[in-house]
Amino acid sequence: MTTELMKRRRFLSNLWKTGAAFIAGAGAWTTWDLINPLPSTGFGGVIRAVKPEVVTEGGVVEVATARSYLVRVDDEVIALSQKCTHLGCRVPFCESSGQFECPCHGSVFNRGGDHVKGAAPRGMDFFAVEIGDDGLVYIDTGHSIDGNPPGTSTVDAPPIGPRCTEEAH
Ligand code: FES
Repeated sequence: MTTELMKRRRFLSNLWKTGAAFIAGAGAWTTWDLINPLPSTGFGGVIRAVKPEVVTEGGVVEVATARSYLVRVDDEVIALSQKCTHLGCRVPFCESSGQFECPCHGSVFNRGGDHVKGAAPRGMDFFAVEIGDDGLVYIDTGHSIDGNPPGTSTVDAPPIGPRCTEEAH
């Protein structure tokens, strides 16, 4: 076998190994993408939150990056937008009353986001949620879904104690 022929064989062998390594790398990358179909992003995108079990019946879990609260209604986890449907103030959860109370003009929403009182034209808005392949709740903050009209009652959750905001509003 001539030296030239040996060089050529070695070159082709290396080329084959490089191609195989590239294909294996591309396959691994594709598999990783399939396993992780919903990358976590900032507000305005899809945000990875918590395991659904963390959201207990009657509990409220704040997800600050998603500007939302996770609550359980009819055994389903839903995400309530923190943005007040009146003029957009951030609505905190009041531990003592067990309700969401807007500090700006006194609108009140129950634990399910239903409008209870005040100037807000509807209940709290929602974000779509999905359980990912990793078993975590993902919140799509790309667009909000209008809250329920006043008078809607999705949960039986009357105030459990004194309000955080003043009754004078
Ligand atoms: S902004 Fe919430 S009641 Fe006005």
